[in-house]
Amino acid sequence: MTMANPNWVVLGPGAISGLMAAGLLEHRQSVSILARHTRKNSVSWQITRSGKKTAFSAPVVQLPLAKNSVFIVAVKAFDVTDALQRISELDGFQKTMPIVLSHNGMVTLPATLKGLNVHYMVTTHGAVKSRDENDTICIEHRGSGRSWLEAEKKSTQAKLSPWFILQDAFPPLLLEQDLSEKRWLKLVVNCVINPLTAIYQCVNGELLKEKWQPQLYSLATEAVAVANKQGISLTRDDCYQEVLRVARETALNHSSMLQDIKQQRRTEIQQLTGYLIQTGKAAGIATPTHQALLDEFQKRYAN
Ligand SMILES: NC(=O)c1ccc[n+]([C@@H]2O[C@H](COP(=O)([O-])OP(=O)(O)OC[C@H]3O[C@@H](n4cnc5c(N)ncnc54)[C@H](OP(=O)(O)O)[C@@H]3O)[C@@H](O)[C@H]2O)c1
Repeated sequence: MTMANPNWVVLGPGAISGLMAAGLLEHRQSVSILARHTRKNSVSWQITRSGKKTAFSAPVVQLPLAKNSVFIVAVKAFDVTDALQRISELDGFQKTMPIVLSHNGMVTLPATLKGLNVHYMVTTHGAVKSRDENDTICIEHRGSGRSWLEAEKKSTQAKLSPWFILQDAFPPLLLEQDLSEKRWLKLVVNCVINPLTAIYQCVNGELLKEKWQPQLYSLATEAVAVANKQGISLTRDDCYQEVLRVARETALNHSSMLQDIKQQRRTEIQQLTGYLIQTGKAAGIATPTHQALLDEFQKRYAN
């Protein structure tokens, strides 16, 4: 895809999209913001990276949309459908406009949103968003990671591709033709680590202890059976080892779901465990260990 001088439209900005918008502004890109609610003409936010604070500001999106608009949608999984619906109703929107879509879990889009030009992105960056006493959005970049974007690889026209710009603005960003396997692997890891750490209120590294291994293995085994039925060629050992690797590398962290529980925010459990169970049911694969985890989670948190 080629596009000279894209007009980046960023939803939020939230933790991840705020980092991306900041990188784009630092690369002198045209960025505008589609906020959920704002009466102002511009949106400001602050990013703390390695202890250093930097302020950013961008105008709210002008309608009708510019023809070269590219959207960045990094929202909680339960907000994905509404966010895409909102974009598709904007004056000037065309279905060919690229949409970078990044979220944990999986969301089945309604038929009306199926023809959109969605490019999934997976990221391992870690960031949290809060608001200070002046209601300014504050984003703390806590962990540098990497990202993968579902897009055609660099061509001879690379300099005209918006992905080439995004690779500079939000590095490292790898382009991959098909992210399905990566998205499923992340789903499996999240379906193991998130609910367990949220239920038992522990750091991720707790799950490395021997006593958890039979449960981790059952969860990985059931999830892989569902993934395989969807044509994803992951193995049980790929997934189990990846769960252990993530638990080891983030041993002292609280998972995002545990953080959501502690701050009494809505969790993404339905788009993680709920999605896995439903997809398994539709494919005739039983997922009793995930169901037991979901039941326990709902008993405790009704979330
Ligand atoms: N943060 C991380 O470190 C991280 C890492 C990897 C993956 N993820 C995943 O990435 C996704 C995004 O996470 P995040 O932490 O960036 O979330 P976040 O900080 O909550 O950001 C989401 C932003 O999108 C906005 N938004 C939602 N629906 C909207 C709509 N219809 N119109 C306009 N704006 C809308 C939200 O606005 P409001 O403020 O009004 O809600 C918020 O500013 C999640 O699925 C998360 O699990 C996050």
